Amino acid sequence: MKIIMLGAPGAGKGTQAKMIADAYNIPHISTGDIFRANIKNNTELGIKAKKYMDQGLLVPDELTCDLVVDRICQEDCADGYVLDGFPRTIPQAVCLDKALEGMSDKIDYAVNVKVPDENIVRRMSGRRACAKCGATYHIVHIPPKKEGICDRCSSELILRDDDKPETVLKRLSVYHAQTQPLIEYYDEKGVLVEVDGTQEMNDVFAEITGALK
Ligand code: AP5
Ligand code: MG
Repeated sequence: MKIIMLGAPGAGKGTQAKMIADAYNIPHISTGDIFRANIKNNTELGIKAKKYMDQGLLVPDELTCDLVVDRICQEDCADGYVLDGFPRTIPQAVCLDKALEGMSDKIDYAVNVKVPDENIVRRMSGRRACAKCGATYHIVHIPPKKEGICDRCSSELILRDDDKPETVLKRLSVYHAQTQPLIEYYDEKGVLVEVDGTQEMNDVFAEITGALK
């Protein structure tokens, strides 16, 4: 099953993508996580991406498309994958479609996790992420068992650099301008699934799996 996660920053794409990947035993591919790993390792890509991410802007398409196309061609993606945070612009979606056409393949579902802007800033300021394994928590809604420590790998939890309120507002405006048009794009292709992302995490997941056949 080949799935795309759509939704505003903080809508819960990553949270749901991890649950889907575990349930269907397919890889979870997050462009945000790939960029953050590159920033941490101080790679050329990481240095370039950081300039945009810290301002709440999108990393240019030319740094993003090839990276994802290369990734989905790897062996572990043969039975499917969950793309989280890609595509994020119409040109990225067109690039993905072209690459898939070349492999006589297509996306099965684009899952849009809907959460109103008012809820987003609150969620992001409470998010904590594990710097090592990428697991995410929320200090109120999804707290770790031990404060500040990852349940999975016992590493320290951190607040992401781009989760400051002013950067979150910028990311939201970029989302509405550049990413929201993808909802119509995938609706026209007949693969759109919309779910209410304001529900409790397991209820959101149940709504998603109920729609995937
Ligand atoms: P990316 O890492 O993709 O960030 P994002 O889209 O802004 O989304 P987030 O990861 O912030 O939120 P999420 O929807 O995954 O929510 P989460 O599950 O964590 O991208 C970061 C940056 O990288 C971009 O700004 C851009 O610069 C660059 N980039 C990445 N991909 C790119 C691309 N394709 N092209 C160009 N640039 C790109 O949940 C949020 C919080 O809410 C958590 O604390 C979570 O625990 C909590 N939560 C989740 N679900 C629930 C629930 N149901 N109820 C209550 N709390 C919940
Ligand atoms: Mg995410």
